Amino acid sequence: MKGIILAGGNGTRFRPASLGVSKHLLQVYDKPMIYYSLSLLFLSKIKDILLICKSEDLKAYKNLLGNGSYFGVKISYEIQDNPNGIAEALIIGEKFIGRSNFCLILGDNFFFGHTVPIILQKASKNILGVNLLTFESNTPQEFGVIYFDKNQKPLKIKEKPKDGKSNSVIPGIYFYTPKAIEYAKKMRKSARGELEISDLNKVILSKNELKVFKMGRGIAWLDMGDPERLNAASNFVRSVQINQGFLISCLEEIALNNKWIKSNELKKNIDKLKLSTNYYKYIKKLISDKKFK
Ligand code: TTP
Repeated sequence: MKGIILAGGNGTRFRPASLGVSKHLLQVYDKPMIYYSLSLLFLSKIKDILLICKSEDLKAYKNLLGNGSYFGVKISYEIQDNPNGIAEALIIGEKFIGRSNFCLILGDNFFFGHTVPIILQKASKNILGVNLLTFESNTPQEFGVIYFDKNQKPLKIKEKPKDGKSNSVIPGIYFYTPKAIEYAKKMRKSARGELEISDLNKVILSKNELKVFKMGRGIAWLDMGDPERLNAASNFVRSVQINQGFLISCLEEIALNNKWIKSNELKKNIDKLKLSTNYYKYIKKLISDKKFK
């Protein structure tokens, strides 16, 4: 399984903050926004990752993440200069995907909860066409929504519906087989000029190849698409981290748990940085834990 993380777009709702920097590099409490979605790929045990961004942001992403070796993963890069839609990621990523199944995730996603890794790992297996996650939301009119029949079979998908008939929204994480690339190539742009991910998922639903994994109420899903929501996510992260003492989406911790990196190598890298922010203090404490020796 491979992973594509989409970090293009215009981020217009963050202007002026997003004029000089990709919104996915803005800070959500103590780490850049992109860490939260990358952590979901790491928790899905995906270590071959393509990051798609605008050419003007490429240098910043490479400074932040490099080729991924620090985290024991492989990160490569492709460019999407114009936001032609989320489904365009499949076309841009065609060569990278090859014959693998893959997870597509938007760089502004945030999930938190004890069962997140379990659901992600389930959703990454036995894919017919696409495996989707769903959340119950009070504001379905702002998202892509899936409707079910009385036997809970997926019936249809609507983008930003106002009918209030389903609260099951689809967050920006999707698990596909490479067949989806061919479907994406045949798609037409929507009225707003984008290759819509909902349209792609509708095609797969019409072929009866769409499965849904419902996220229960024990999982928090936060959208970080505008300053208000980013601030709410920051406060959420701060309060959980301060109360529990665990960091949310510490990439080094997940890499250690996945046995992708060794604690002595990580220690060497961290010592070189000579930093003592709370983030690095936390990692130093982890490294000294005998669980990782
Ligand atoms: P959006 O929130 O729809 O768009 P945006 O991030 O450009 O923000 P705004 O609406 O404020 O202008 O995008 C959702 C995610 O998908 C976000 O992480 C950016 C990403 N994206 C792309 O990378 N390329 C695209 O073509 C589109 C439409 C979105």
